Amino acid sequence: MQITGQTKIMFVLAHPIGHVRAPAVLNAHFESTGKNVAASPLHVAPEDLNGVVAAIRHMRNVIGFGTTIPHKIEVMRFLDELTPNAKNVGAVNFTRRDKDGRLIGHNTDGLGFVAGLRLNDVDPAGKRILQLGAGGAGRAVAFALAEAGAGKLRISNRDGGKGQALAEAIAAHYPKCDVTAGPAAAEDFDVIVNTTSVGMKEDDPIPVDIDRLAPATVVADVIMTPLVTRLLARASERGCKTIGGKIMLDQQMNLVTDFLRA
Ligand SMILES: NC(=O)c1ccc[n+]([C@@H]2O[C@H](COP(=O)([O-])OP(=O)(O)OC[C@H]3O[C@@H](n4cnc5c(N)ncnc54)[C@H](OP(=O)(O)O)[C@@H]3O)[C@@H](O)[C@H]2O)c1
Repeated sequence: MQITGQTKIMFVLAHPIGHVRAPAVLNAHFESTGKNVAASPLHVAPEDLNGVVAAIRHMRNVIGFGTTIPHKIEVMRFLDELTPNAKNVGAVNFTRRDKDGRLIGHNTDGLGFVAGLRLNDVDPAGKRILQLGAGGAGRAVAFALAEAGAGKLRISNRDGGKGQALAEAIAAHYPKCDVTAGPAAAEDFDVIVNTTSVGMKEDDPIPVDIDRLAPATVVADVIMTPLVTRLLARASERGCKTIGGKIMLDQQMNLVTDFLRA
């Protein structure tokens, strides 16, 4: 694309920066949807985050910025407003810069996951869902599943206290969702989603025992590298519908475009 004085600019703030793929994914999306928007990576060390965010307020052709490791939580201190979603999740992955320089933080991770489920004809409403993990992605996915009407949500996390805290936060916001934390048998659920990072490495174990899984169970993974984790490969062999992490990221591109008013 050609960047001109008419082009709307956005950044992706990270530290380190070398592995960051979001600008490429964003630029491909803007190009394919005919948007005159360009995204650039910005290498920002934690101690400089406040100064960089303050400077962005004054950059009038900037429509917003993404934040990834290690800025997703810390950035919230420097923003004017958080969407309810960002507040619930406790992390911001995209911030909009309004024309007057106000900065509004949002979190699209969980919304992207649910959009990806729906595109695969899986509606979380009323479903019994087992979620593995309660980290950053896990918090986002759990809130989005509860918002989408999940009937029963079981959160199983290595650090049980963290899983319990997430379950309590969900219960406080969504009293109709039957949410609990603790270990679980995979065969008791309609949908299983892995939100842990277990599966990124080739020799990682499968994060749940799926040996008695019924083919009707849908198995999803938020991991993007590899595109097909061992969990998904094994579930697919058992006849289950499987959904990888790429669709979650792809769906976030539409959500970000809308949120940034790009
Ligand atoms: N597709 C997308 O759009 C998208 C978006 C965001 C993230 N992601 C992916 O989601 C994954 C998690 O990212 P995150 O930001 O949520 O990371 P995080 O905040 O560090 O959370 C990591 C989670 O994995 C669990 N975990 C890590 N190592 C484990 C092990 N050896 N055994 C059992 N559990 C383990 C952690 O459990 P403890 O709490 O016990 O430590 C925690 O629940 C990454 O692969 C990331 O790339 C994908």
